[in-house]
Amino acid sequence: MSYYQRHVFFCLNQRTNGEASCGDHDPQGAFDHCKSRVKQLGLAGKGGVRVNKAGCLDRCAGGPVAVVYPEAVWYSWVDQSDIDEIVERHLRDGEVVERLVLPESVGR
Ligand code: FES
Repeated sequence: MSYYQRHVFFCLNQRTNGEASCGDHDPQGAFDHCKSRVKQLGLAGKGGVRVNKAGCLDRCAGGPVAVVYPEAVWYSWVDQSDIDEIVERHLRDGEVVERLVLPESVGR
């Protein structure tokens, strides 16, 4: 069994050269909100959920992005209610939130 049941990585990269980046969409706010909801729901820690910051994940055109392992499901979102849905349906209940899944074709 893996140490964490689910591991989430939020891209917090901010580009300053005019190219699209997740940093244009307040990823820190989404990260903070996710981390706090995971904690509130008692999901954090060994055998549960870990929420981590990441640098560029090379799917910048779809920003903001985060990826959930072990399912390797990529998400993008608009607001905190979307993050709540990812936390409750996927991180807690193991159900992919299809409407927020990043299309396979989205790259840098
Ligand atoms: S800037 Fe977020 S994936 Fe590249």
